[in-house]
Amino acid sequence: MDDKPATPADMTRQAREILVANDRGGYTVPTADLYPFQWNWDSAFVALGWATFDSDRAWQEIEKLFDAQWPSGMVPHIIFWTEASTYFPGAGVWQAGGNMAGAPDGLPFSSGISQPPVVASIVKGLAVDDPARAAKLIEPLNRWHKWWHSARDAYDLGVIAITHPWESGRDNLPDWDLGMAKVDTSRVGPYQRRDTELVDPSMRPHKEEYDRYLALVQFGAENGWDDDIIGHKNPFLMADPSITAVLLAAERDLASLMKDNDIDSSEVDVRIERLASNYDRFWNSEVGAYCAFDVRSGTHAGTATSASFLAPYAGVTDRLDTVVAMLEAWSQAAPYLVPSFDPRGERFEANRYWCGPVWAVVNYMIATGLAEQGAPEWAERIRISTRDLIITGGFAESFNPVAGSGTGGHTFSWTAAMWLAWAHAE
Ligand code: DGY
Repeated sequence: MDDKPATPADMTRQAREILVANDRGGYTVPTADLYPFQWNWDSAFVALGWATFDSDRAWQEIEKLFDAQWPSGMVPHIIFWTEASTYFPGAGVWQAGGNMAGAPDGLPFSSGISQPPVVASIVKGLAVDDPARAAKLIEPLNRWHKWWHSARDAYDLGVIAITHPWESGRDNLPDWDLGMAKVDTSRVGPYQRRDTELVDPSMRPHKEEYDRYLALVQFGAENGWDDDIIGHKNPFLMADPSITAVLLAAERDLASLMKDNDIDSSEVDVRIERLASNYDRFWNSEVGAYCAFDVRSGTHAGTATSASFLAPYAGVTDRLDTVVAMLEAWSQAAPYLVPSFDPRGERFEANRYWCGPVWAVVNYMIATGLAEQGAPEWAERIRISTRDLIITGGFAESFNPVAGSGTGGHTFSWTAAMWLAWAHAE
């Protein structure tokens, strides 16, 4: 048996093989079985991986996502292009997309919420190779971005709120407990989870959290996924520094794409100013970090998360020195950067999903921001951590920031994509 360690070239070959194996024809599943459909922000990052060896396939990944765009402009977080019994909750629980009221012919079934709108930033990168194909995405991107401002900032705070922890992509973050406490689970009834049959349950959210996830899906489905009702009355409504930073970066990239195509970007410029001037609402002076807050009470979550490092990615640099100082403190507590939750916090769990593990795509965004805003040495440290984690933990869903082992699912598309597009580079 050949027990030689994998070389970078072996890893690159494996990463490509993962994307090819997870390709379902125009879209890539995050990993087989555990996530057998198209996921919104996964596809965006995965397109970067495809772009390193199959440019046409990269564009298809993004274009397919917009085939599921709702008339409101919303782009769903899961698109059920096929049926699969290995995932719960499926299309029948969500009752969204497809033939719902007002849907155009051919709209696929989907979830009823969105996910971090990273696509415009990815398209801006891909546009160098095919500006004409990028130009065609400007209008749907603009509609999606507008939807975030109208549907997810119903209280007009100038920051973006999520209506479900799944909308943030950072599902079981302890920060959401504040909003989750208000979710009534009395009508959820019995259900069968699939995720805990496929992944070690100690790496997944608890049942109490799942009950609430399902109660929120129930609320949306019962209200026909009406933006006005959800935006104002959803039981869970938390302003998210991560979604807001991702949207702010994406708005800047959309404006730049528009300018490159001689399209008037003034409406986007107004939205950029709105988000940029309100980002400081996330600042929690007691913690000394950007933190999520409950929209209706204004109460901040009391701990920092990996999202607290995303301000530079959004071009917000007022507190850059403090952000970098916190990164330094975290690096003393956990050898691998960047844990999803404060490694010095009581609720930190090195193996449990978003309570501690490192996520390559979040690292990519944090490092991109730090490189752009004058902290290239930290950007490089984060890239090297990501590279080392993939070498030691494989193409896992996420990574234990203390032990360096893989956590969650395996043969993961977005981790493979991050290796190909960013982490491997010397
Ligand atoms: C899940 O099912 O764990 C997903 O994160 C939902 O998007």
